[in-house]
Amino acid sequence: MSKHRRVWSYPWILALAYLVLGALWILVSDRVVAGLAGSQAELQAWQLWKGWVFVGATALVLFLLARAFLRSSYATRTTLARIMDLLPDPAVVRKVDDDTYLVANRAFQRVLGRERGGVEGRDPDELGIQFDPADWAEYGRHLEAEGEVRDFPLHVILPDGTPRTWLTSSARDEFQGTGVIVATTKDVTDLEAARLHAENQVRRIKSLREIDLAITASRDLPVTLDLVLQQVVEHLAADAAAILMWSDVSQKFEFAAARGFRTRALRHTALALGEGYAGQVARDRRTRVVQDLATEPGSLARSPELEDEDFASYAATPLVAKGRVNGVLEVFRRSPLPGSREWRDFLEVLAGQAAIAIDSAHLFQDLQDSHRRLRAAYGHTIEGWARALTLRDAETWDHTERVTEITLRLARRMGVPEEALTHVRHGALLHDIGKVGVPDAILLKPGPLDEDEWRIMRRHPVLAYQLLAPIDYLQPALAIPYAHHEKWDGTGYPRGLSGREIPFTARIFAVVDVWDALRSDRPYRDAWSPEKALEHIRAQSGRQFDPEVTSAFLALHEEEGLEAMRGTDHGSGPSVPVGGNTPSGLA
Ligand SMILES: [Fe+2]
Ligand SMILES: [Fe+2]
Repeated sequence: MSKHRRVWSYPWILALAYLVLGALWILVSDRVVAGLAGSQAELQAWQLWKGWVFVGATALVLFLLARAFLRSSYATRTTLARIMDLLPDPAVVRKVDDDTYLVANRAFQRVLGRERGGVEGRDPDELGIQFDPADWAEYGRHLEAEGEVRDFPLHVILPDGTPRTWLTSSARDEFQGTGVIVATTKDVTDLEAARLHAENQVRRIKSLREIDLAITASRDLPVTLDLVLQQVVEHLAADAAAILMWSDVSQKFEFAAARGFRTRALRHTALALGEGYAGQVARDRRTRVVQDLATEPGSLARSPELEDEDFASYAATPLVAKGRVNGVLEVFRRSPLPGSREWRDFLEVLAGQAAIAIDSAHLFQDLQDSHRRLRAAYGHTIEGWARALTLRDAETWDHTERVTEITLRLARRMGVPEEALTHVRHGALLHDIGKVGVPDAILLKPGPLDEDEWRIMRRHPVLAYQLLAPIDYLQPALAIPYAHHEKWDGTGYPRGLSGREIPFTARIFAVVDVWDALRSDRPYRDAWSPEKALEHIRAQSGRQFDPEVTSAFLALHEEEGLEAMRGTDHGSGPSVPVGGNTPSGLA
């Protein structure tokens, strides 16, 4: 505000002074002239002189004022230019009305390759500076609305054709009565390129990490390969990419995964080592880049569908893991590929990841196969033992098979987890394996056992424990062979466990085993009737058996028709439990 008052008040003071002086001149000069003149003619001559003196004095004042004004105006501009020259970055004063540069500092002249005077009075077009139109419009809008902008990025092409990025700070102002824009710029082209490069690197590292995680977490090879191809397309500026995988069966590189193709080209690819680009790349173990497929179509010319893809360039690199080529990564583009050293490096890094993924998937596959074979071998061995056992026991293989099946159903019904059922199965199959240590005379005795014989017979769970405990694989299956004669009320053997001390699966098995034994013929008695057997089970709930397991068994018996599983040739004759022992004693 104060600045404005000074600017305005100065000419008024001049005008006022002029008015006062003029008025005084008129008042005083006429009297002086009248006093000096002796005649009318002399007065006229004096008046004329007085007029000339006035005009002359006014002209002199005007001359002095104009000179002072012009000098100061010139000095202001020179000083401004000098200050601007001191700035290391380009700076300009540009007129708003015609876009011409009023002042341009040395740094700006240097950027344009011009001398001082070569820039002033011209506009960007005349100087050959091309601002990005969108940037320029946006910049103008901001400047118009806010009066100034800071660090606005302007993309510009210089007269010599080089594209640069200028970070511009500008403000609207008035200079010597003209609307101007004062602007200074910083060339951030290299900085921006470095930033983009760094961002790119970070993105690439992230993508590698993603692939790593996928390799570690996912056993699904197609998912991992698809992720690798996604990264290839994204980070290597490719339009399409494919992975061929070595097949030991066909002895060829076969199509495994693809991304970005318009057609089903490559789906039936199968190349021998050394055959086609991919085969050659695998044989030579070297990346190959074909920048112009039109002049070097190679083996790709043979795929008619590939023609519809309009690919212009191609690259392939071998997938090598542990010194073995297990596939080929192929990259396609509908324009020339970047193909720089850095580009190739990243292609090879991604190929390395794909190779590791394939290798680890094969490893896992092999491991799973061996594991499956091993488990099957164990399963068959255990079943073999169980069968061998029934060769000399009163119990039949049918009994073993049946109680195993029913125990599994009951266990599943009672919420035993699926992964534990294998052990339940093994435990049930081997439940009486301890009887291998019981002499034939006792085991096969047709009549009741005496006290000593019973003592030996009751050792079979402990014998089972001693037999199986050293075998790691069978540890989880021990519960049933070791504890199937324990009773809920604590009167069982060998350890006299009670209630929930008895392993859950042994409690389940005990009910099934006793029921099936009662329903079967024995050398010393006939099978019990279904009703009588069930009555016995019910009666033993809370005594011999866990009440919960008993109810679950009775429900299962009713719902799934367990009697039907036994066929028709058992369970009708009179039932005579022998020896005063509970029937389960011989189960
Ligand atoms: Fe037993
Ligand atoms: Fe049994």
